[in-house]
Formats: sequence, C-alpha cells, structure tokens
Amino acid sequence: MSEVRFIGAGPGDPGLLTLSGLEALETSPSALAPSPFSSSFAHWLAGKDVESPFTMPHEGVVRWIEERLPRGPVAFLVPGDFANFTPFLSFVAHFGDRARVIPGVGSQAVAAALLKKSFDLPGVAHATILTSPRAFTAGGERVRVRDYARPCHTLVLYMNDLPLQELVAELRAGFGRPVPVAILENLSCPDERVTRGTLDTIEARFAGRDPFGIGSDSPEPTLALVVAGEVLAATEDPGWWNRRYERLWKPRGLR
Ligand SMILES: C[S@@+](CC[C@H](N)C(=O)[O-])C[C@H]1O[C@@H](n2cnc3c(N)ncnc32)[C@H](O)[C@@H]1O
Repeated sequence: MSEVRFIGAGPGDPGLLTLSGLEALETSPSALAPSPFSSSFAHWLAGKDVESPFTMPHEGVVRWIEERLPRGPVAFLVPGDFANFTPFLSFVAHFGDRARVIPGVGSQAVAAALLKKSFDLPGVAHATILTSPRAFTAGGERVRVRDYARPCHTLVLYMNDLPLQELVAELRAGFGRPVPVAILENLSCPDERVTRGTLDTIEARFAGRDPFGIGSDSPEPTLALVVAGEVLAATEDPGWWNRRYERLWKPRGLR
C-alpha cells in the first residue's frame, strides 16, 4: 500500500532537505507543496502532480491524497521540521499506519547556524523555549511572551503577530533587561534578512518596517523568527571544554 510521506523540507532552500527526504520526494509521483516550496523546489517537483494544501479544506486535502495513492506514494512537504508548529498533524493522524514522517531542518536550527550561536550556554542559558504568541494554553488563552522570557532562557518565537513595539515591551517585561534580540526573515530563501539589536535598539533598526506582515493580505506567507536572550551576545569559555574533557571524556576514554 502506498504511503503518505510527510517530509521535513527545511525553511526553503532545497539544500536543507535530508537525503531521506530527497529520496522520498523523488520517488513520489504527487506532492503537496505550500509556498515557498512550490517555487524553491520547482526542479524536484517538475513532472509531478502538485498542489498546495492551503488551497483546500481538510476533507479536500484528504480526498486529494486518497485519489492519488493508487498511483504511488504522495509527498507532503512540511515547512522546516515536523517537531514544531506543524499545521499538518491531523493528516498524519488520519493516515495512521500509511503516514511516514521524515525529519527535516527546523527554522530554529537554521537561525542558530546563521547567528553562529548555540541557544544554550553554561551559566548563560540552560533552556531554549520555542513558542508563539499565537499558541494557545490549556486554558484557551494565547501565550503571553513575558511568561516565557526569563533571564536564563533563550526564547525562540514562531509566527509572531504582535506589533514590534508590543513584542519588545513583552520581552522587556519578561527578561527584565534589554537583552540581545535577532529577527530573521525568510531564512534560507533568496530574500533572507537578519536584523540584530537589543530590546533598546531593535525597533529603530526597522525604521517603521514591519517584519511580521501584520494585517498583510499577500498570498505569500510572511516568514520571520524571533530569537531573544543573553546567549546572543555571549561566547563559550574554552574552560568548559577542558572541564568536560577531564571529568567526562578522559575517564571513559571516550572516542
Ligand atoms: C507554521 S510554522 C512552521 C514551523 C516549521 N515547522 C519549522 O520547523 O520551522 C511557521 C513559522 O515558522 C517560522 N519559519 C518557517 N520558515 C521560516 C523561514 N524560512 N524564515 C523564517 N522563519 C520561518 C516563522 O516563524 C513562521 O511563522
């Protein structure tokens, strides 16, 4: 029986597709591919039956897939990685044993690479919080950014819909100081843009431009990730390598 392959496609650049994802895509005659993948993956989608899942209601997507399964596997390109904020979870549940999830490179991983920062650092940040002001708590309320912005955390915000001024005020209320912040737009896409500053300076860096596309009616998605926390301005003390070497690796003869 053919399978539905939910392929972590990375944030846009096909170079960030894993070898397993590529093999799965190449051997699927049909594919659901939202923007920006419909264009950035055009070479790998050529000759396939392609549609965007966002053009159909839930039952339409299920029907689209069911109609094509007799002809072979169906690829479903998942933005970034399936682990965080995927809107396609209900389709994986629907197809059950016929669904296969292939991991990809999440946008937070691409942000870390671009910033050349690991989001945790001994003595600076011991937890990375991935959340969104558009996420809902169990009580049905929207997440309050200030509740997760803590001095010892690195905060990664997806799908921000707070105006920049409001976002800065929330981050300030949580962190309690003007921590470094980076706003990364269109990661790994041709119009990639990274804006860095602190909570004191970031608004001025945008000079009134809205990176979050609030109220936009463009058919193209607005892709922006926010990273905030002291870790962005910190570096690792090389002594940490030697501490780990002496206490952990040397005694075991770790290879
Ligand atoms: C529905 S979530 C999907 C997240 C995805 N599962 C992942 O692992 O990156 C969409 C949000 O992810 C972030 N995102 C996805 N692709 C991005 C990109 N190319 N550049 C910047 N942010 C991106 C943005 O915050 C966007 O609003």
